[in-house]
Amino acid sequence: MHQTGLDLPASTGVEPFACEARRVEQTTQSSVRVRAVLGDPRYHVPTVPDDSPPGTLGWIRARIPRFADGAEHDRRRALAERLIGGLEPDHLRWLAAQRTRALSRSMPEERVVEAVPVLVLAETLGMLGGGVDAPGLLEATLCAARSYLPHLPQEPAADEAATVLVEAARGATDEETAIRASLLLQSCLATANLVRNARRVRRSPADAARSDPPVRSTRRIGPDGETLELDLTAPVAGGDPSLAFGAGAHACPGQAQALAIASGILDSLPGSDQ
Ligand code: HEM
Repeated sequence: MHQTGLDLPASTGVEPFACEARRVEQTTQSSVRVRAVLGDPRYHVPTVPDDSPPGTLGWIRARIPRFADGAEHDRRRALAERLIGGLEPDHLRWLAAQRTRALSRSMPEERVVEAVPVLVLAETLGMLGGGVDAPGLLEATLCAARSYLPHLPQEPAADEAATVLVEAARGATDEETAIRASLLLQSCLATANLVRNARRVRRSPADAARSDPPVRSTRRIGPDGETLELDLTAPVAGGDPSLAFGAGAHACPGQAQALAIASGILDSLPGSDQ
């Protein structure tokens, strides 16, 4: 990966990112500049092909807000926000604490931290109780999540795992089913990382997200076709919001839910003092 070591200025203009097409550009970036790029409609999320069989990971990616821009993004984002809006943070926190307490009796802590975000979201999104049981959905989610982003290695098992999620998400072939399934993929590893970070620094999830963002970077395609790796850990000035949950049109719509689940897990993990 190419490193220029440039400190990107807070001013306007795209020049500091200029690079040859298709090369991934990674620089020392200022948070002001990263926020500007994330809010600039000339920069697009990576595009994904829609040529995969129904239910596979590629099929999910081609139907969700994370990999769409413009009107398509607006429509899918509204569906995602409606689903997430039904997840009440206080209830998520309570449920996460309950599940953490129960699972901690039989599972090592590291496994509990991975499992609870998936199980709590699956339960509140109505994805359990059909043909897919909780352990099967958990395994499938963690497997598919490792290949969720298109630039990551695509594990052969990920497509089969994705079909388990789609079945749990109603098994239909519409956008809402894909989006429901994707909420587990989009959130599971990040929420588990947030809990680990908060536990390590003995801070609240909100503080830990700011000091040690669990999602370290994201990608955009610039006006010239260049791929940019944007640093979400870039330090922010005192009162500014951090970049931990992104910024602009694709900013995380599940921030309150993520913090609530992480808080609930920490409420019940032995020896936590948030
Ligand atoms: C600590 C946990 C989480 C972190 C750090 C996190 C972080 C992020 C970030 C940085 C983005 C923006 C990606 C980009 O612009 O390229 C994002 C997008 C998204 N997040 Fe989260 N997230 C978390 C948990 C969740 C949860 C719990 C949900 C749902 C319940 C969720 C749903 C989404 C969705 C649907 C998007 C895509 C939005 C769009 O493209 O319009 N996230 N998240």
